[in-house]
Amino acid sequence: MPVRPEWRVIVALSATLAEFSRVGVGRMGWAWVGSDGAGWQGRKGGRYRDGVQLDLDFVRSNFPAFGRPINEGQSFFENAGGSFACRHTIDALTEYYTDFKVQPFSEFESSRRGGELMDRSRERWAEALGVEAREVVFGPSTSANTYVLALAFADVLGPGNEVIVTNQDHEANTGAIRRAAERVGCVIKEWKIDPDTGLLDIAEFEALLSERTGLVTVPHASNIVGSENDVTRITQLAHGVGARVIVDGVSFAPHSLPDVGTIGADVYLFSLYKTYSVHQGLMVVRAGLMAELPNQSHFFNDSVADKRLNPAGPDHAQVGSAGAVLDYIEAFHQHHGGSATDDVRAAVASVSALWRAHEDALTPLLLDALADRDDVRLLGPATLDAVAGHRCPTVAFSPLAQDPRAVAHALVERGVQTSSGHYYAARVLDGLGVDPDRGVVRLSFVHYTSPDDVARAVDALRDVIG
Ligand SMILES: Cc1ncc(COP(=O)(O)O)c(C=O)c1O
Repeated sequence: MPVRPEWRVIVALSATLAEFSRVGVGRMGWAWVGSDGAGWQGRKGGRYRDGVQLDLDFVRSNFPAFGRPINEGQSFFENAGGSFACRHTIDALTEYYTDFKVQPFSEFESSRRGGELMDRSRERWAEALGVEAREVVFGPSTSANTYVLALAFADVLGPGNEVIVTNQDHEANTGAIRRAAERVGCVIKEWKIDPDTGLLDIAEFEALLSERTGLVTVPHASNIVGSENDVTRITQLAHGVGARVIVDGVSFAPHSLPDVGTIGADVYLFSLYKTYSVHQGLMVVRAGLMAELPNQSHFFNDSVADKRLNPAGPDHAQVGSAGAVLDYIEAFHQHHGGSATDDVRAAVASVSALWRAHEDALTPLLLDALADRDDVRLLGPATLDAVAGHRCPTVAFSPLAQDPRAVAHALVERGVQTSSGHYYAARVLDGLGVDPDRGVVRLSFVHYTSPDDVARAVDALRDVIG
């Protein structure tokens, strides 16, 4: 897990938006200092100076979407559905399509270099996530990756095994696994969210575990309630009875790129297209499990680590461009005082901490606009410190007297790019007593979101829901 220092925001979080404009918090960002006054402590270097600021102008200059007429006068709050791509990603894709878009890994130069870029992406992501290159699998999406995993697990699980799933997951990390497990005669146990808070209680998980548990699937953070689950602890407990663990990090990784090696889960998944990169799913399958799961690809790919769990075959250009977002992260790191000699993991950890600090300064403003109201039900924790884990800025609410679609429409009219629906988390809404067909409105943001964006959203909410 990335180190999570507690941050004390110099600008008081409790200030109202009017106060914010009075104290002149502008697009340049925020001032920070570690609560111990010591500044950020990265692993193996990666130390930023005290009081380091996230430079929003620098950040946004790396995302071409902000300068495009189609987004002018609007603020983007559909990040949990897919983030903007950084220019490094766009440039890498353009270059690949222009120069290297041939069958890779042959001897002619365009083919050789295309293949090298694909290998390089895998190696760089492995370093960033703290795992080995042979453990990194790129697939068309996280949904496709979990589908393949479900088929593979169906060959190693059977009657006598129990599978623990949750109703806090996006359907991608639960539906296919449930179907496959049911087909081969496993007992399925559902770890249920609290119907009021949407949170998972780890004590209930412990009660569900048994010697027969073969597999556990769990989200790192929900795409509706936004709270982080202690997946390191969950993994330890599951491993204690010999079970494998699949963690869906799709809603967590855009806010803080995880140290997958330290978490210890057997599988960790996230979607690169929500993480400023290409439209691919990245799946880490730890070596022990990789050897145990049967090949899902052509028979001759059995020993090809990056193909055996991707029957779709690799999307060469996207895999070759998938590592370019790490150029952005390294540039971000150095711009904020990190050293060019720091390794990728150290840079990722430091950058993630600063992303999080920036988000944490803005999240309460959005939560405060929606909490403690009779006409709105805010889903998930209403404050950052309401839960032990991180509260990601994925903020969903149910407008009680208005149609969510109408609310989303009115927000869009006011320049807030958002939407409504169940976001493929129908089981979560059901567990919270919210009709999935009616849906909710979700505002999600990331580190490139500005105080002005949040002010626009809060003003628009005030206008629309009163
Ligand atoms: C938490 C979560 N898990 C899984 C997925 C599925 O990802 P993909 O679109 O890559 O299949 C999503 C997509 O929204 C998600 O939010």
